Amino acid sequence: MLSINSIDTYYGLSHILFDISLTVSQGEVVGLLGRNGAGKSTTMRSIMGLTPPKKGTITFKNKDITGEKPFALFRKGIGYVPDDRRVFADLTVDDNLEIVHRRGNEWDKDRVYELFPALKEIKSRKAGNLSGGEQQMLTIARALMGSPELLLLDEPTEGLAPLIVRDLETQILKLRDAGISILLSEQNIKSAMKMINRVYVIDNGRIRFEGSISEFEAQEEIKKKYLMV
Ligand SMILES: Nc1ncnc2c1ncn2[C@@H]1O[C@H](COP(=O)(O)OP(=O)(O)OP(=O)(O)O)[C@@H](O)[C@H]1O
Ligand SMILES: [Mg+2]
Repeated sequence: MLSINSIDTYYGLSHILFDISLTVSQGEVVGLLGRNGAGKSTTMRSIMGLTPPKKGTITFKNKDITGEKPFALFRKGIGYVPDDRRVFADLTVDDNLEIVHRRGNEWDKDRVYELFPALKEIKSRKAGNLSGGEQQMLTIARALMGSPELLLLDEPTEGLAPLIVRDLETQILKLRDAGISILLSEQNIKSAMKMINRVYVIDNGRIRFEGSISEFEAQEEIKKKYLMV
């Protein structure tokens, strides 16, 4: 589905990602785990063409997408939920979903509201007045309106109350069950472990570990060194 092949990414002259390789197969939820500043968001931004890599390639469904812009990638079936939870503050929840340019018809508002019943209850409210958890649901809901085959979720549970986090975990698992492949970045491994099938640990712009959940569970050194567990 997604394959990142030895990319190097910079902000100006600052070299941030070093030889990052990573894959997401059909139907997988892959965790990209790392602490603050490790390079998780930069990896997502590299995929989305927001900070394209200077070296290496990225393929989606076996086609080179390196450097392609977010809108083009959305149309190809990649949904991106960045870390900033940006919604159209002056529009209602319903209009935030309505104005999304549609791709395919697998997902529509009814199906999105079925997954997020809490959003349906507040669909006439202005998005700018929502709580952090509600805004996060809305940004995921909006990405779903494009009927994505791959979702990039950048720390979706960060800063949210435990109850909301649990709701989101359940909803993300439902997305996996619906056949959507997911790349999920997290610092909170306890939460991530409930959702993911496979793990990459990133630190200082380099992949430090790659393996299955059970392989990762056994890596006390890796967890201590790169994830402050
Ligand atoms: N716009 C920018 N210009 C210069 N350096 C940046 C920029 N954005 C991020 N960086 C640097 O790139 C490195 C990786 O940052 P990145 O945001 O990818 O980390 P992260 O793993 O997403 O961290 P967090 O958990 O805090 O979101 C950090 O050292 C950060 O300071
Ligand atoms: Mg980040």
